[in-house]
Amino acid sequence: MKKTLSIVLCAAFSLSIAAEVNYQVVPLPQQIDIDASGNYFVLADGMTVSYPADDTQMQRNAQFAEEYLKLSAKPADKKKPADVSLTLGLKSDSPDAYAIIVGKKGITIQGASPSGVFYGIQTLRKSIMNEQGEVRLPYATVSGSPRFGYRGTELDCARHFFPVSFIKKFIDILALHGINRLHWHLTDDQGWRFEVKALPELAKKASVRRNTVIGNNLYVKDPALTLFDDTPETGFYTQEELREVVRYAAERYITIVPEIDLPGHMVAAMSVYPDLGCTGGPYEVWNIWGISDDVLCAGNPKTLEFLKTVYDELCSVFPGELIHIGGDESPRVRWKTCPKCQAKMKELGLKDEAQLQTYINKEMESFLALRGRQIIGWDETLEGGLSDKAAVMSWRGYDGGKAAAKLHHHVVMTPTSHCYFDYYQLKNGKAQPLGIGGYLPLSKVYSMEPVPAELTEEEAKYIMGAQCNLWTEYMLSPDHVEFMLLPRLAAMSEVQWLQPQQKDYEQFLGRLEPLQQIYRKLGYKYCPTHE
Ligand code: ACM
Ligand code: ZN
Repeated sequence: MKKTLSIVLCAAFSLSIAAEVNYQVVPLPQQIDIDASGNYFVLADGMTVSYPADDTQMQRNAQFAEEYLKLSAKPADKKKPADVSLTLGLKSDSPDAYAIIVGKKGITIQGASPSGVFYGIQTLRKSIMNEQGEVRLPYATVSGSPRFGYRGTELDCARHFFPVSFIKKFIDILALHGINRLHWHLTDDQGWRFEVKALPELAKKASVRRNTVIGNNLYVKDPALTLFDDTPETGFYTQEELREVVRYAAERYITIVPEIDLPGHMVAAMSVYPDLGCTGGPYEVWNIWGISDDVLCAGNPKTLEFLKTVYDELCSVFPGELIHIGGDESPRVRWKTCPKCQAKMKELGLKDEAQLQTYINKEMESFLALRGRQIIGWDETLEGGLSDKAAVMSWRGYDGGKAAAKLHHHVVMTPTSHCYFDYYQLKNGKAQPLGIGGYLPLSKVYSMEPVPAELTEEEAKYIMGAQCNLWTEYMLSPDHVEFMLLPRLAAMSEVQWLQPQQKDYEQFLGRLEPLQQIYRKLGYKYCPTHE
């Protein structure tokens, strides 16, 4: 009796440690065709993975496969095929498409380009990562292709500074979720984080905030109730560090979209160069949150000179085509009474101050076009008329994005309603770290539809994709950033990858549990309760 029981237990145990994987990861592959034969391939540590010789990107992919799948990389050799073969040549409209073919001879991960192979490796990695003991991969063809080409996440390193080591971890998290753009918010009223070699004082001084308002910023309404800490917030990225981050991101098929926010959100820079403001200052790096009336003077020729110096160096560090010029929350009150701004408006025959902002945008657009770059700005840039080819990031709802798409300008949808990950993810009153306010539960992120129904098929093509945003006024540590990001990023990644008819929230929650197990393995903090 005892012996029988132990055999049964043993069989049950061996079943549990040799479960077959089901390839149902996040983001869900578009198609999972499991072979009816019931056969499976056993993937074991130390097996080989091959890549086309002389292809450095594919070689790097093979190194990722070594690391993630515990394989041994080697150049492809027809006479001695590897257990896992990385190949190119998949036919698809998207360079990010992949197919994983599992059969008798092993596994082939084929991509439409090296990025597709990378996503195939990530899918296989997530499929097997929670398995223990023998890893059985049913014969299958698993294929994926993202709905959108632009799959973004924004990180604000101006309000709080995060070291390069964390930026790399952040990039790894994005790569795990199939995100391919890191929109990096590098400057704001509360801190300047980008080294400009021609202006050495800028980052050195403007990166230092002497203290920071504590607790909920609503207290700022009554200065008597406002409490400040006694801890300076400092830090900027040298160009050498930034180039290293660019390289690290590119290996993971992530392009950085750097943002230097103009003409508003510039108080930190103006604290070093006060004559760039309409009143001449003095200004101090802001230690509270909110919107400053003090913005760059649009009538002072030094402003464009300054911006061109900064953006020239920005282009030398960040090779991506899109350059973010900000444009949000820039009150025009100072411009209304500034003699220089008013004179500039008269000179150019502009009818209002919104057009003055467009004038700066156009100057920056042509300056950057000479460097092969294209500008993108927040939806306020529509107000005075968009410059020729500017793309729009729609954050105050979907309307800005809709209007831009109708004008045949490219759009990234990132409305506060579905994409602001600084908002609380749990209902008011539940224990959670202090945040800026708002409420954006996981289910709401998942429900996002980036393409408004009113757009024609032609207009809809201008919606490049979607993006979630992490504004860090209330995120003082990397752990807190991760907590706000995860698992909402998982929901966002399905918005970005899946076709609408494929989305199913309940089914997603079933796939989220194993993903959260992966978060725990990788040491990523996340919010364990979902609403
Ligand atoms: C923004 O949230 N001010 C773009
Ligand atoms: Zn002015």
